[in-house]
Order: sequence, then C-alpha cells, then structure tokens
Amino acid sequence: MASLLTENLIEKQEKIISQERGKEEITEISLDRDKIKSIIDKYNGEKRWLISILLDIQAEYNYLPRDPLIMVANELGILLIDVYSVATFYNVFSLKPRGKHIINLCLGTACHVRGGARIADKIKTRLNIEVDETTKDKMFTLETVRCLGCCALGPVVVVDGEYHGQMNAKKVDALLQKYTAPEENA
Ligand code: FES
Repeated sequence: MASLLTENLIEKQEKIISQERGKEEITEISLDRDKIKSIIDKYNGEKRWLISILLDIQAEYNYLPRDPLIMVANELGILLIDVYSVATFYNVFSLKPRGKHIINLCLGTACHVRGGARIADKIKTRLNIEVDETTKDKMFTLETVRCLGCCALGPVVVVDGEYHGQMNAKKVDALLQKYTAPEENA
C-alpha cells in the first residue's frame, strides 16, 4: 500500500515536472554512473548533503537530468520524490536542459528603469528565444532575476557567473559574441 502511494506520488511529481518542461524537446543524457558515484562519495553518501550533491550534478550537466536523480535517491536511500522536492523547491536548480552559457538578466526595479526591458528585447531577438528558453544550438539559456544586489551597476547582466554592469541594448551583440567565440576573445 505504502509503495503504491509512493509510486503515485512520484508519478504525480513527474507529471508536474513534465508540464514545467512544456513542449520543449528533451534529449536525455546518457548516465555516467562513475561520475555520479564519485560526486555522491565526495559527500560520504550522506543524505544531509543532498543539496550539495545536486549542485555538483547540475554543475556537471547544467541541469538536473532524471537518471542521475534516480541514482542519487537509490544511493542515499531516500525516495525519488524527496530528491525532486528539493530540486523543485530551490530556484537555483533546473530540471530542464539548459544551454552552455546561462544568461541572467536583472529586471529588478533599478535595472528596469535604466533600460533592462530593452536589453531583454534585444537578447530575445538576437537569440530568437523567450525568457526561460534555450537556443536550438544549446549555446544560450536566458533567465531573469529580480535583483542581484548590485543595483549601482545596473542594468546588470550575468553570464556564467560573470557580471556585466552598465549594460545597454547596444552592448548586447558584443556580449553574446564574447561567449559565442571565446577563443577569439581570449
Ligand atoms: S535591480 Fe538589478 S541589481 Fe538590483
């Protein structure tokens, strides 16, 4: 009875996740068991380190693929739904495949009044995607945040953790170029 309940919960959770993913085509990764095992072993296989384990897995794949989550649940001896609960609770985690480069555009008040929306429009046009989408070539994912805590630098765009302050729409092409052809800008 309990396991039936658990299966139903997992099924329900996966339904929600699949709805979140929308119509986006998902290409599941092949599971690198050794890699996932070494991440789990780094934390002695202790469930109290679940968030750190998920962060490391996401650093590896840029999102949290399903198969590694199943392996984490098995190795830590916890329910898959508990892993999904953590993965869906924190904004830092993504269950959708993301691009090689993650663009975080600040649309907080200070950045917005200084032209954040124009920057957003330019990035969306150039990449042909909307917010929370990934380009077809899997190079960029565009996400937005409500304040990065450095309003004086606004408008701010963060790419792969690198802050770009005092941005404007005219600088967008150069910014994208920097990440499209990094070897040419090294
Ligand atoms: S509003 Fe953009 S950094 Fe604060």
